[in-house]
Amino acid sequence: MDKKELRSRGWFGKSGKDGFIYRAWMKNQGFPADEFEGRPVIGICNTFSELTPCNGHFRELAESVKRGVWEAGGFPLEFPVMSLGETLIKPTAMLYRNLASMDVEESIRANPIDGVVLLCGCDKTTPSLVMGASSVDIPTIVVSGGPMLTGRYRGKTIGTSDVWRFSEAYRQGQISQDELTTAEACMCRSSGHCAVMGTASTMACMVEALGLTLPENAAIPAADSRRKVIAHLSGRRIVDMVKEDLRLSQVLTRQAFENAIMLNAAIGGSTNFVIHLLAIAGRIGVELNLDDFDRLSAQVPLLVNLQPSGGYFMEDFYYAGGLPVVIKEMLSRIHGDIITVNGKTVAENCATAECFDPEVIGSLEKPVKELTGLVVVKGNLAENGAVLKPSASLKPELMQHRGPAIVFEDIDHYKARLDDPNLEMDENSVLVLKNVGPKGYPGMPEVGNMSIPKRLLEKGVMDMVRISDGRMSGTGFGTVVLHVSPEAAVGGTFALVQDGDMIELDVENRRLHLDVSDEELARRRANWQPLDLGYDRGYVNLYIKHVTQSHEGADMDFLIGGSGDVVTRDSH
Ligand code: FES
Ligand code: MG
Repeated sequence: MDKKELRSRGWFGKSGKDGFIYRAWMKNQGFPADEFEGRPVIGICNTFSELTPCNGHFRELAESVKRGVWEAGGFPLEFPVMSLGETLIKPTAMLYRNLASMDVEESIRANPIDGVVLLCGCDKTTPSLVMGASSVDIPTIVVSGGPMLTGRYRGKTIGTSDVWRFSEAYRQGQISQDELTTAEACMCRSSGHCAVMGTASTMACMVEALGLTLPENAAIPAADSRRKVIAHLSGRRIVDMVKEDLRLSQVLTRQAFENAIMLNAAIGGSTNFVIHLLAIAGRIGVELNLDDFDRLSAQVPLLVNLQPSGGYFMEDFYYAGGLPVVIKEMLSRIHGDIITVNGKTVAENCATAECFDPEVIGSLEKPVKELTGLVVVKGNLAENGAVLKPSASLKPELMQHRGPAIVFEDIDHYKARLDDPNLEMDENSVLVLKNVGPKGYPGMPEVGNMSIPKRLLEKGVMDMVRISDGRMSGTGFGTVVLHVSPEAAVGGTFALVQDGDMIELDVENRRLHLDVSDEELARRRANWQPLDLGYDRGYVNLYIKHVTQSHEGADMDFLIGGSGDVVTRDSH
């Protein structure tokens, strides 16, 4: 059944000095000689790290994968790659997504691996692994780590989106530091990633929607024994994928990307989805642009009632039937006939899916909300586009808004100025935060959902139009325009906004306009100076020089595309 010789034979199948070296040192781990005689070698790419708490259970998960690989006649070899934890890494894990993807790409290509299992969990670990693997393009299957169990605090369910609520309540003196400390322990009470439809859950749904996982992968809680079962089954399956030579590029077609976009709208996925999907498309060589997201999301209602757009958590989503239910409901709109990693089509994989809780998973006839997932707005303020998630807005009237700008030149200016009592503002003001884009921060942090100024909060204002060239956490909410491209740091019009300028947001007409004359903008542009961030060496210097704008996926320009899986030269 082998279509061609296994690539691992280029190491373990060699005779003489080279073969000796490739095998001898491996044998110090106690592998019998026949392991090297033609079993498919399966790499298990592990993002385990105690600094990435969401992936803290991955050593155990890898063991389940290995059982499946052994059973199917493969030879599993686990290897670590750079792991990006969302909560600890400063200034933002996004700064290192491309670096981690380089580690993944080079580790796969450089080693005797015939197929690879990607163990992904926390936000950036999924896109970085899929990006890296795409640039090599060998048989690949993804296993997600699964969400945490739903948090419980004083009889109520809580999750990551409550962090923002708790901190606002604390700012207003409604809860004490002691209560906050208790809430910390109540929220993250099991292994797994954020339990809301934040970026990690969005990424887990994305890989399932792309056909890169076995069905149901996205929602099984990390602590549920069925998470280990799907890891085990994925271990079995990757061995067959190697025999079938079913590569990533056969699954990641243009249609698969279209499916992922429509399904992301249906689940109310994170805005970060846009940037990561664009970057993956760039690696695998599929044409995709921001307009595709707007066009394909436009008519899709929200079908999943999960925080931050709705009320429930990933655990509830799994018990209600999980992503296969959503895929089945969407079959009339998506491509059902394309192949996925298990060799079956999208339609076949969801054929027996059933919704067990219509409160949690709605239908096209009875959606959770009519408002769709993502909208792309353009105009002189964002010539290459900006992104907004209407379903996360707390005040739908703001979808059509004109108001005077309050400008923060960078994050420090924002922090110093937000609660300045001399600052004239009201609920019609538009908060503008510059220099939080890919180059400007650097690394495009999740600070776009700026806090509402204290004195407006006290007046009961819960939402305002906020615009930035940064991102927001997938767990954030509000009328927040993100990813403005070109960003301020490269001298886009966004860099030229000043206090009091009138800004118009018109979601229906997809418009974001700065009401300042072209002559005035030309005058301001002539005086504009680029920032000096002071990074003159190392990775960050490389990143700033090569990172693309957000509408292009914020990948490095030299990483777009792939180099395949061939390495011709031996090491000694
Ligand atoms: Fe890891 Fe939210 S912090 S998924
Ligand atoms: Mg996040």
